[in-house]
Amino acid sequence: MVKKILLLGSGELGKEFVIAAQRLGQNVVAVDSHEGAPAMQVADLFEVIDMLNGDALDKVVAKHKPDLIVPEIEAIRTERFYDYEKQGIQVVPSAKAANFTMDRRAIRDLAAKDLGIRTAKYLYAGSLEEMYTVVEEVGMPCVVKPLMSSSGKGQSIIKCEADIEKAWNIAGSKGRGDSGDVIVEAFVKFTSEITLLTVSQKNGPTLFCPPIGHIQERGDYQQSWQPAVISDADVKAAQDMARKVTQELGGAGLWGVEFFICEDGVVFSELSPRPHDTGMVTLAGTQNFSEFELHCRAVLGLPIPEITLERVGASAVILAHKEGTNPYFEGLEKAAIYPKSDLRLFGKPTSREYRRMGITLAYNSIGTDVFICVDQAKEMAALVTVKNK
Ligand SMILES: Nc1ncnc2c1ncn2[C@@H]1O[C@H](COP(=O)(O)OP(=O)(O)OP(=O)(O)O)[C@@H](O)[C@H]1O
Ligand SMILES: [Mg+2]
Repeated sequence: MVKKILLLGSGELGKEFVIAAQRLGQNVVAVDSHEGAPAMQVADLFEVIDMLNGDALDKVVAKHKPDLIVPEIEAIRTERFYDYEKQGIQVVPSAKAANFTMDRRAIRDLAAKDLGIRTAKYLYAGSLEEMYTVVEEVGMPCVVKPLMSSSGKGQSIIKCEADIEKAWNIAGSKGRGDSGDVIVEAFVKFTSEITLLTVSQKNGPTLFCPPIGHIQERGDYQQSWQPAVISDADVKAAQDMARKVTQELGGAGLWGVEFFICEDGVVFSELSPRPHDTGMVTLAGTQNFSEFELHCRAVLGLPIPEITLERVGASAVILAHKEGTNPYFEGLEKAAIYPKSDLRLFGKPTSREYRRMGITLAYNSIGTDVFICVDQAKEMAALVTVKNK
């Protein structure tokens, strides 16, 4: 069964998804706002549109008549997805999931209020005036985020009263929502963070990957490793929460469910209804299927008999340092000599400061200290520099 898949968003995660889909003989149209995006390089066809424009989205859907719509990013006019679903198109994982997860208010209230899942204490504010009362109630330090944003955009931490106005302005300038409202969350003193890749199948139980540990800077991940070193009780608690949230959102596909691990247990943070950037560590062959292969199988309704840990591994990001065109890499021959390692270079047509241009991967046999892999991946990434022609 060859399906036509409309991939909305064509970054590095989309590229790996397309490769997984192509290996299963599927047909993919990759969409993004600019030409030459990573997933377009490997897809059957591509389209360049503004995905926040509902009419442009409608046109592309009408033109290609896909069997499946696979969103790769959040910044899409997801309200239209309900309509596509009614037309009989399979929206991945579901229209509700894509729509809810792009709005922090929808997903947070669903988790905390409807499902009773433990989250950081939080409130919303719609004006600077309201911020003062909300911050007092939540307490300092607290984190402020626009309701619609990703990769840490528009986020800041309030440590003292003077930060309140700054945080409001930062959020206002970077959010992509229409409302301008923000969420104010108590700062969670976590000992570590994990992503629990969770797979909802069409006909089969919800499956979990071994947890992935990661380090974040400026709202973006820097290194990730699998398995994360956390207690069995914490894994079990995270799995229970992930199962509840994903079942409530419905559909089939892989999710990246983010948790803070604290001394007194697990706190739910948020989730992506799609492969997660920290999950690129699975490209090191840490599992029998990468997160992209799992996503592909799940959305096509192919059974996933089991998910097994095959190796321990780590990934580290290769970042650009300035804005420019025609980026290229220096130092690859030094990084590539490491045994038990690999690289992914995304082929992005432009660079900007802190933009992720590639990753390094390191792995070893089960039983090896995973942080040896983290150190190696970091060492390799440090040898590679992004330059511009
Ligand atoms: N309440 C909090 N307490 C402590 N740290 C936080 C809190 N909220 C966010 N962070 C830190 O900021 C990072 C990014 O936050 P979050 O995942 O909410 O942002 P995001 O913009 O949705 O990012 P992405 O889309 O890349 O996942 C978290 O992984 C964590 O390191
Ligand atoms: Mg996050």
